[in-house]
Amino acid sequence: MYVDNDPLVLTDARALLASSPQGATAYIDVDLYDPARILGEAAQTLDFGKPVALMLMGILGHVESDDEARSIIERLMSVFPAGSYVAMYDGGDTDPDVVEATRIWNVSANPKYHLRSPVRLAALLSGLEMVDPGVASVTRWKPDAEAPAQPEIAQFAAVALRRSVRMCDGDDDIVEFADGVHVQPGGVRGRG
Ligand SMILES: C[S@@+](CC[C@H](N)C(=O)[O-])C[C@H]1O[C@@H](n2cnc3c(N)ncnc32)[C@H](O)[C@@H]1O
Repeated sequence: MYVDNDPLVLTDARALLASSPQGATAYIDVDLYDPARILGEAAQTLDFGKPVALMLMGILGHVESDDEARSIIERLMSVFPAGSYVAMYDGGDTDPDVVEATRIWNVSANPKYHLRSPVRLAALLSGLEMVDPGVASVTRWKPDAEAPAQPEIAQFAAVALRRSVRMCDGDDDIVEFADGVHVQPGGVRGRG
């Protein structure tokens, strides 16, 4: 399931994203700022009863506000079951040349791009369990041990797990863990 709101990108998607007997693919023309519509349309292809991998690749920089970006991630992940992951990479503000190139780009670009520090990128995933090594340059995020080391670049990657889901059951909270185990107040455990 690929989501974008650029007609040109979606023209390429139409040409490239074809379903096959091995599995279904789809693309939808939806704005990232409308997670409810993304979820509604994605549910026609994806099974939200099973863990989902949400990939936010190079797009959160188009969302200027950290609160808005965090809220979008929370609203998308809130529908996915325990055991779901979010993976992201985005532009970092650690290289003065990239900061200057982005400043020039933003003079005329639409939508603009907003670089963040690694600390701000990590905070977008608060509430989720960060996978090692946390937020790291894409060249340093679990690099291939056999390949020559690459220099760090100002593009940062992170993966985080939705370990548990807090569900409300009347006055009681039930916590569902990634292995499907439910824990109720008082430590009563069940499965399913
Ligand atoms: C830097 S590109 C990254 C594309 C691709 N994910 C990748 O990693 O190569 C950012 C993409 O986000 C899309 N985009 C920007 N703002 C968006 C929005 N509000 N809703 C949906 N897509 C958006 C752009 O059209 C563009 O295709």
